[in-house]
Amino acid sequence: MIEKCLFSRKENIYTERHLFTAIHDVLRFVTVHLPTTFSTTDAMAQSNGVIKTFEIPTDGKGATISVRIVEPAGINSDNLSLATWASSLVLAGILHTLGLEKCLQSKTSLSPLPILELGAGTGLVGVTAAALLGSPAAHLTDLEGTVPGVAANIAVNEKLLVERCGPAAVRAGVLDWWKPERITYLDGMEPAEISSGTKARILLAADTVYDEEHPQLLERVAQEWLEKSPLARFVMCYPMRIAYLDHIRELWERFEVAGLEAEIEGRQTGEATNGDDELLCEYVVWKWKDL
Ligand SMILES: C[S@@+](CC[C@H](N)C(=O)[O-])C[C@H]1O[C@@H](n2cnc3c(N)ncnc32)[C@H](O)[C@@H]1O
Repeated sequence: MIEKCLFSRKENIYTERHLFTAIHDVLRFVTVHLPTTFSTTDAMAQSNGVIKTFEIPTDGKGATISVRIVEPAGINSDNLSLATWASSLVLAGILHTLGLEKCLQSKTSLSPLPILELGAGTGLVGVTAAALLGSPAAHLTDLEGTVPGVAANIAVNEKLLVERCGPAAVRAGVLDWWKPERITYLDGMEPAEISSGTKARILLAADTVYDEEHPQLLERVAQEWLEKSPLARFVMCYPMRIAYLDHIRELWERFEVAGLEAEIEGRQTGEATNGDDELLCEYVVWKWKDL
C-alpha cells in the first residue's frame, strides 16, 4: 500500500532530494514577498494583509459556503509566513465527500472535542470542517506564533460559524507536536487549557509532513489525541513533493504499526499557491484498525 502511494523512482529521489529541498525553501521564502496567485471571488489587499474568500463545496450539487481567510503580514512560525497552502485548499474542497458527518452523529458517545485541527496555519480546513459538519466544537491549533492568525480567521468567519455551530464553538489554541500533552488557549475564555485526556473524534492536518521529525511527531499526536473509537478519523492531506516522499513513506509505516489503517485515500492536483507550481496532493482518512 505504501509503495502504491509513492513514486517508484527511488534512486532519483535520493539524487534530486537536496536540489528540490533547496528550491522549495527558496520558493517558500519568495512567497513572503510576492502577491498570491489564488483565484478568489473577493480578494482585498489590505495594508498589512490579504483577505480571500473561498467558495467551498458542501455537496456534489453546487452548494457552497463562503469561507473568508485573512493572511496577515508579519505572522511567522516554523520559518513559514502565514499562508494557505495547496493541500488545505484540496482538503477543504473534498471534505464533504469523506463521510465525516457520520463520525459526529452518535450523540451518546460524542467526544468532548469533535474536531481538532493540527498545524492549522490560516485555519481554512478547520473553519470549513466546523461549518460543514455543524460541529458543536472545533479547536484549531498551531504553534504559538501562528495562533493569532488562526484566531483572526475564526473572527472573520464568526457569522458563518455562529449560524452553523453556535457561539464560541470554534477556538484557536497552541498545540505543539513536541509537547502534545495539552492545548493552551490564548483567547481568555475558559478553559484556558485542556489535556490530551480529552480525546478528539476528528483530527485534521493539511501540509504537515515536510520535516524528518514530522512522521514520529504526528504519530505521537495521534496516539495522544485521537479517540480510540470506531468513529474516530484522522484526515490528512499533503503535497507529494519529491523532497518529502521519504517522510511520507515513514508516516505511512508508523501509522500502520501504531494500529491505524487508511479507510479512504486519493489524490488531487492543487492550485499553484505561495510560489509552488501545481502540486499533486494526496489525502488519507485514517481510522483505528480492529475497533
Ligand atoms: C505548511 S504549513 C500548513 C498550514 C495549513 N495547514 C495549510 O495547509 O495551509 C505547516 C503548519 O504546521 C505548523 N507546525 C509546524 N511544526 C509544528 C509543531 N511542532 N507543532 C504545531 N504546529 C506545527 C506550522 O506552524 C504551519 O502552520
